Amino acid sequence: MATDRITIFDTTLRDGEQAPGFSLNTGQKIRLARQLEALGVDVMEVGFPVASDDDARAVKLIAGEIRGTVLAALGRCNPTDIELVGELLQSAARPRVHTFIATSDLHLEQKLRLTREECLAAVRCSVTQARKYTDDIEFSAEDATRSDMDFLCQVVDTAIAAGATTINLPDTVGYCVPSEIARFYKTVMARIADADSVVFSAHCHDDLGLAVANSLAAVLAGVRQVECTINGIGERAGNASLEEIVMAMRVRHDLLPYSTGIDTTQLFRSSRLLSELTGEPVQANKAIVGRNAFAHEAGIHQHGMIQDRRTYEIMRPEDVGVESTLVLGKHSGRHAVRRRCEQLGYELCPGELDRVYRAVIVLAERGKPASNDDLAGIVERG
Ligand code: KIV
Ligand code: ZN
Repeated sequence: MATDRITIFDTTLRDGEQAPGFSLNTGQKIRLARQLEALGVDVMEVGFPVASDDDARAVKLIAGEIRGTVLAALGRCNPTDIELVGELLQSAARPRVHTFIATSDLHLEQKLRLTREECLAAVRCSVTQARKYTDDIEFSAEDATRSDMDFLCQVVDTAIAAGATTINLPDTVGYCVPSEIARFYKTVMARIADADSVVFSAHCHDDLGLAVANSLAAVLAGVRQVECTINGIGERAGNASLEEIVMAMRVRHDLLPYSTGIDTTQLFRSSRLLSELTGEPVQANKAIVGRNAFAHEAGIHQHGMIQDRRTYEIMRPEDVGVESTLVLGKHSGRHAVRRRCEQLGYELCPGELDRVYRAVIVLAERGKPASNDDLAGIVERG
């Protein structure tokens, strides 16, 4: 059965890099951009160039380097930002100008001090200006989910009439719950006359820990682009995590019948590279890419896994690029010790197994799960 294809828009190098502790130098950004290309993201947002000369330089260099992926750069709805983004993306094979303005009354009145009419004019002028550089224009209505629905629809109509091809409606402060965001997208799409001529996009923040759930709810409501980051990094509590969204669609294809262009075997490598470049570790129990995501230590679990992996495993570690591991810790049983020894080429008689098992437990009680080298040493010492 043909399934709907979801565009994966990665914003690790823009929204992710904006987060405290996650800044990267230009060389590091290029390394990560190459890995994102290998991962198979459809769109890579590579910076907000007006923010710094470093950002601008990185956008230009990545534009010259990455040829197969759509490259987006972000600018506010003003002539200076759009010109800078447009010029920097000139050498990109597949450029996308991404422009945004806030649409909630709170942001318009308190932050931008703009009237609704001024906001509409800025959207019209900016999208029109961006069209001089490329036909691929994304418009984002910042704080869309807290905006007045009638006004938001006016803004979206204006952006589409001026030539926007993707309409992104961010949950900028991570305020929504899944049922609400589904209703939100359905309402907007039903009210926009030209809804079918554009791609609607979700961009969810994780302030309530709901960014992935909200993104999936948005897809079920009809959105066909999802904006996300590796390891879920991003402003404050972060953005929706790319690896969680992609694997949810893959593992629960029965309920989420969508496909992506992601090579899932590159997920773990992408996560580790980001962590290595930023020096920020991934939490051990992080879904999909955390150190413990596929680790089974309890004896009962290990026994089950040895009999049939499906007892405790809903996806195979190798599908996300992780080598399978049964941790030999203090909760492990003899089954796991024997299995690991077999994998290392040692056939143990029952007496030997008992001795090796006890040595593994002694190590574990000192807080050191037995590695393959430890195990080989124990077996060979006899
Ligand atoms: O969270 C947000 O609203 C954004 C937009 C600028 C796209 O990152
Ligand atoms: Zn954001």
